[in-house]
Amino acid sequence: MTRETQKQAAAEAALDYIDWDMVIGVGTGSTANYFIDALKKVKNKLDGAVASSVATAERLRKLNIPVLELSDTGDLPLYVDGADEATRHLHLIKGGGGALTREKIVAAASAKFVCIADDSKLVDVLGAFPLPVEVIPMARSFVGRQLVRLGGQPELRVGFTTDNGNVILDVHNLEILNPIELEETLNHLAGVVTNGIFARRPADVLLVGTETGVEEMTT
Ligand code: A5P
Repeated sequence: MTRETQKQAAAEAALDYIDWDMVIGVGTGSTANYFIDALKKVKNKLDGAVASSVATAERLRKLNIPVLELSDTGDLPLYVDGADEATRHLHLIKGGGGALTREKIVAAASAKFVCIADDSKLVDVLGAFPLPVEVIPMARSFVGRQLVRLGGQPELRVGFTTDNGNVILDVHNLEILNPIELEETLNHLAGVVTNGIFARRPADVLLVGTETGVEEMTT
């Protein structure tokens, strides 16, 4: 199986979590896109979807799946999204596509978070993938200096603005041994909107596409 077919297999396995009349949360990125494509098969079961990005909303609309606002739907039964890194504790790094803040909001508002990934995303310790941090533009340098103090090497994602009008600092060289603590520390820096560690609210289910099929892990 190639990486792409592994992503696709994980995405299709997530269809099993969809029940009739659900409004589901849908994530962002290439693996989430495979999930959206797979939704064609079950879209008559859905009442609608909440998108974690403008790009995902457009893709859902092309399938004629109603895109709803989280403020109108209330909490959701299910959220399906990819990740940049995942551990067997179901802690994640997300935000490679820059949608981390809306992803974290939808994950927080969902009863079940099913993460879909190919097996290159599975790691023992988070941090080899540069950690995305969404920052209010005027705080860019200030937050950058605090991130250096914490041992990271922040790099501005040049030419990129988030759906919320902010910038992203990708932080290199972090070995994230205590993801819950670092997630909280970073979120307390003035000017940080959120960071890409998903550990306080980890995934509930991780579906990993492997050479031999889809492996399911739960907390
Ligand atoms: C988007 O902001 C991210 O959190 C994605 O979920 C993550 O980057 C995974 O993307 P791929 O499925 O494209 O690897």
